[in-house]
Amino acid sequence: MTDNIVWQQHHTNREQRAELFGHRSGVIWFTGLSGSGKSTVANALEQALATCGFHTYLLDGDNVRHGLCADLGFSAEDRTENLRRVGAVSGLMVDAGLLVLSAFISPYRSQRQFVRSLVPADSFLEVYIATPLAVCEQRDVKGLYQKARKGEISHFTGISDPYEPPAAPDLVIDTSASELADSINQLLQLLAERGWIK
Ligand code: PPS
Repeated sequence: MTDNIVWQQHHTNREQRAELFGHRSGVIWFTGLSGSGKSTVANALEQALATCGFHTYLLDGDNVRHGLCADLGFSAEDRTENLRRVGAVSGLMVDAGLLVLSAFISPYRSQRQFVRSLVPADSFLEVYIATPLAVCEQRDVKGLYQKARKGEISHFTGISDPYEPPAAPDLVIDTSASELADSINQLLQLLAERGWIK
């Protein structure tokens, strides 16, 4: 598909944008079951980072599926295409100099390996929101688990579709066992340890 397409080098690059913004860019990828707390944690982290003057953007499954990925469902093929698109957007945003917070169920290891491969190795952190299925189902904030149990939603992650936990995530957070503020502190500490923020 990229036959006859030639990559264009631009005058302004990622390094210059990092200098301009006063910080480096990268992707913090949140993976976990529906209702595990991905959006809540990513949202709070973005707020903490933005308050400190970092340039951020939060890409969220539910929101992206209203526009960029509105044509996609939840079969394995559609999820792979969903993640290909949001992985590519995350990569562009890294080039734009942003700290990108990407919150997607991203249930298959191969899908997460693929999105990881789109940015330099030192620019991707994987955060596993490991809230147990029973807790997610009990919360059932959107009523989707109930529908999935009744068979009204097919391919529902954790019920009628698989979730493959990360083998070696950079951080594991169980939102049923830790306070949000503590999780944000852990994340900020991780970012500082890796030299992403000072
Ligand atoms: S994926 O697997 O990464 O492509 O999914 P994602 O783009 O993150 O979208 C997840 C949100 O879609 C809603 N939803 C479903 N989730 C899982 N399985 C099925 N079948 C499904 N149908 C709709 C659900 O609200 C997810 O939002 P979160 O924030 O994860 O609860």
